[in-house]
Amino acid sequence: DAAEKGGYEHFMLKEMYEQPKAVTDTFSPRIKGNDIVIEELGMTDEEIRAIRKIMIVACGSAYHAGVTSKYVFEGMARIPVEVDVASEYRYRDPIIDEGTLVVIISQSGETADSLAALRESKARGARVLGIVNVVGSSIAREADNVMYTWAGPEIAVATTKAYSCQLIAMYLLAMKFAKVRGQVTENEMKRYIEDMKRLPDQIELLLNNQNRIQKFANRYLAARDVFFIGRGIDYAISMEGSLKLKEISYIHSEAYAAGELKHGTISLIEEGTLVAAVLTQEDLYKKMISNMVEVRTRGAFVLAVTNEGNDEVERAADYVIYIPETNQYFTNSLAIIPLQLFGYYISVGRGCDVDKPRNLAKSVTVE
Ligand code: G6P
Repeated sequence: DAAEKGGYEHFMLKEMYEQPKAVTDTFSPRIKGNDIVIEELGMTDEEIRAIRKIMIVACGSAYHAGVTSKYVFEGMARIPVEVDVASEYRYRDPIIDEGTLVVIISQSGETADSLAALRESKARGARVLGIVNVVGSSIAREADNVMYTWAGPEIAVATTKAYSCQLIAMYLLAMKFAKVRGQVTENEMKRYIEDMKRLPDQIELLLNNQNRIQKFANRYLAARDVFFIGRGIDYAISMEGSLKLKEISYIHSEAYAAGELKHGTISLIEEGTLVAAVLTQEDLYKKMISNMVEVRTRGAFVLAVTNEGNDEVERAADYVIYIPETNQYFTNSLAIIPLQLFGYYISVGRGCDVDKPRNLAKSVTVE
């Protein structure tokens, strides 16, 4: 066991530190010069142009990767995207046809609900693409096409590196669709590729700053409730940050679209309640800061995760974690790192079983 953990205290920690490599392994075979080449997609440019809707279906963190992808796909490729959790999708008579590309995202490739969603989609005539980590798994075998995330084996129940690779796979796909559908210029594409190649070093940098998060986490070991807020793509990462924390530390946490707080959740804010605010989208800074002021006025302690250079944030936050610069679509890949570390150190500090939290399984093969 100790040898398998390669000197790390937990598999989760080891896997977090494997992210720079996992991410690189996932994008590098698919970047050729200034172009994205995804042969395993098995679709001609004409077929890509004929897709009218993308339906992303998954469970747990893979679902959260899907929520991020919706913002990326719609923003970059201007194609409508729906995202659903597999257990809901199956029973709501989804509107899909030959013009729909169904994307099933799954680390294990064995999640029963996701597999059932795949079969249902095929039966309804949609084309199904699997984004899968385990080679040869059921979802990989049954999907029309499969694009692998090259995260390597993931042992900790709480996913980190597989999730990060799912984001990368979906960015690549969105870039490919954007290009084929004429939605990006050559220059924009070049810039996205450069940004993607910088992600591994940026992730590494954030991992190496773990001390600051660890210190902060140690102050919040006794927290009862934590709220994660964000807007747009930052709302998507808030969901994953909140899940990471609650699944391994057993602290109740919720993710909220920051503008929606005032419609209910804000009544739960008390003196000292921790609110983690993610703000990486420049056009939403002002709106986010006003939401942070709202909760702070009611006694919340505000942790902010934002871009380097957004000094404005300091007036509304009690503690700030800065992430390096990237484009508006890739920020989740960086913002998730401090949030993973936060969940991890809270779990360790509370003496929880980090790698095998109670009641959870790595892969759920019952519906
Ligand atoms: C389980 C795991 C989650 C995971 C979800 C989907 O609930 O505990 O971490 O996100 O299944 O798993 P999959 O293998 O389909 O990505």
